[in-house]
Amino acid sequence: MLEEGNEKNLFKDKLKAIREGEHENRKKRESEFHFFHQQWVILWQPVVVENIKKDREVHFYVRASNINSIKAQLRQLTIEHKVLMGDVQGIIEKQTVNDTVNARGSSSYYENYHSMKEIYRWMEEVVKIHSDLLQKIYIGSSYEKRPLYVLKAIHVRERDQTMTTLLEHFDFYIMPVINVDGYEYTWSHPYNRLWRKSRSSHSNSKCIGTDMNRNFDAHWCGPGASHSECQETYCGPYPESEPEVKAVARFIRDHKDTIKAYITMHSYSQMVLFPYSYTTNKSKDHEELESLAQKAAKAIKRTTRKIYRPGAGAQTIYLAPGGSDDWAYDLGIKYSFTFELRDTGTYGFLLPSREIKPTCLEALSAVKEIAQHVLQNL
Ligand code: ARG
Ligand code: ZN
Repeated sequence: MLEEGNEKNLFKDKLKAIREGEHENRKKRESEFHFFHQQWVILWQPVVVENIKKDREVHFYVRASNINSIKAQLRQLTIEHKVLMGDVQGIIEKQTVNDTVNARGSSSYYENYHSMKEIYRWMEEVVKIHSDLLQKIYIGSSYEKRPLYVLKAIHVRERDQTMTTLLEHFDFYIMPVINVDGYEYTWSHPYNRLWRKSRSSHSNSKCIGTDMNRNFDAHWCGPGASHSECQETYCGPYPESEPEVKAVARFIRDHKDTIKAYITMHSYSQMVLFPYSYTTNKSKDHEELESLAQKAAKAIKRTTRKIYRPGAGAQTIYLAPGGSDDWAYDLGIKYSFTFELRDTGTYGFLLPSREIKPTCLEALSAVKEIAQHVLQNL
């Protein structure tokens, strides 16, 4: 259970946001604020009520002023519980102060979270500095008309032998941020740092955003997704309704004969997932993917001692149709994975910045393991 920051902090933040904010947006933001905070509990894990299972932990977030009554209710129901984070707002503030203090490309730059604007500047700079190694590919634009970029890493001599071999055989396409609008929103609206969905608006609904990982054309909007615009797992009005999803799907379709593996990175729960997530049935490559996911999890353990659980999506995390991994797999990209990165709930979506680097190192070791397997099985 997570407890929100004290009222004073919230009030201070609200005032700050309003003062800085455009006055015409003020009313809308206030109403969003109220809508968000009127809810008694906001689920973190699993993302929707239907996915709560017996004997599994549930992580949720509550308004500080409701904490005592919620605790009393839990006690009455004899549900074991503890407070994981006493001051969510305080953690958010700490994580969003260091946007540009470190020089881009310096190692400490990669140990802090950055805003979307800063990530755009970073992309521009790295491709300029490493023009022999990196290209920036424009693949479309977002609902709010921000550009969507994929970085292509090409062969160059590396100090790391495995990396050299892998880059000799493969190009890597990396998309740092798919939800550019949603991510920008988490920085510009302090009480919405945990926004999940896109920022599109459909059918005059009062609620904004589609869950991009429910919007791919893979058993779209079956059990595990929602047709209601106000839900966190809203699947959108039709598959690929989101311009960001459409851009990624088109890019992958256009390159499908050369793409050998697809990996998408999420947080949190420390898992190496493979298809399917839209059904509990096994895919035809289940055994191979399972053993590869196990190898990837072992590589992670060797790197940082962290335990990641390997498994098919629907069995391991929850039933979730319309995900990019299942879609890529059914398109013919056999090696398709979702990494759920750190942690397992201590900080949940608010992973402290000191954990960014080790999380990247362990994820990289898993990527290498997968790439080596692909290379041996070409
Ligand atoms: N955190 C992920 C999500 O809810 C889990 C996705 C598992 N589903 C999948 N298709 N890989 O989007
Ligand atoms: Zn996710």
